[in-house]
Amino acid sequence: MLVSAKEMLTKAKEGKYAVGQFNINNLEWTKMVLTTAQENNSPVILGVSEGAGKYMCGYKTIVGMVNGMLEEMKITVPVALHLDHGSYEGALKCIEAGFSSVMFDGSHYGIDENIEKTKEIIRIAFAKGISVEAEVGSIGGEEDGVIGAGEVADPAECKRIADLGVTMLAAGIGNVHGKYPENWKGLNFEVLAEIQKLTSGMPLVLHGGTGIPQDMIKTAISLGVSKINVNTECQLTFAAATRKYIEQGKDLQGKGFDPRKLLAPGCEAIRQTVKEKMELFGSVNKA
Ligand code: G3H
Ligand code: ZN
Repeated sequence: MLVSAKEMLTKAKEGKYAVGQFNINNLEWTKMVLTTAQENNSPVILGVSEGAGKYMCGYKTIVGMVNGMLEEMKITVPVALHLDHGSYEGALKCIEAGFSSVMFDGSHYGIDENIEKTKEIIRIAFAKGISVEAEVGSIGGEEDGVIGAGEVADPAECKRIADLGVTMLAAGIGNVHGKYPENWKGLNFEVLAEIQKLTSGMPLVLHGGTGIPQDMIKTAISLGVSKINVNTECQLTFAAATRKYIEQGKDLQGKGFDPRKLLAPGCEAIRQTVKEKMELFGSVNKA
């Protein structure tokens, strides 16, 4: 059964580790993330962007697929199904469709409008036991059509959003979606520490988890980050493994063109990437 992200993140915050959110794109992605979570006895959050939602034929299709997998694959670790960077309308649709967690990304609104809309989503989601993530500041780069200026969050604004009682808070601290540029200055830990101080027990979320050096991940967790989002890195490793299979001509040998064979190396690459992240985040054996 799907669960809200609240309990797993409260435990992560207390235990000083982070739960990974891994974005899904199709059946193979979902199967591999769930399999890896179960193998490593780790809680996990399946992230769905609005673009991936459309690609997978809508939120109800995704809920049906994930619930079916939880039952048929006998997944017993805590799993949350979470809308990633949702619009107001998207969040309402996911709440209706059976997601157990939603992000309302109001970071492109002024802070007052962000607060008003977040408050409304909280009211509707909490009535159904669904967790809510809000965002202040913005994440640089682009993810599935969501473009951010990379504006570092104002800790006072973070406190205003945290005071609404959101389950978890994403703050822009110099993090970027996709690959980090070579001249990247790193995460702004001063701002992160200030946000943690002002928002006390609130689990914080680090977006743009692809390619952040290990020591920065550890420091971020020590400063209250309890959820880390990873998307691009699974796509990169999946693509590299698939390219290798095709370049070796394996798709032309025997039944190598069968999609179940063609996609297998990419699936293994996702398993490896997710496992490495769970180990780095410290969520292994925390289910
Ligand atoms: O919302 C999802 C993430 O922030 C993923 O970022 O693609 O850089 O790993 P990433
Ligand atoms: Zn993100």
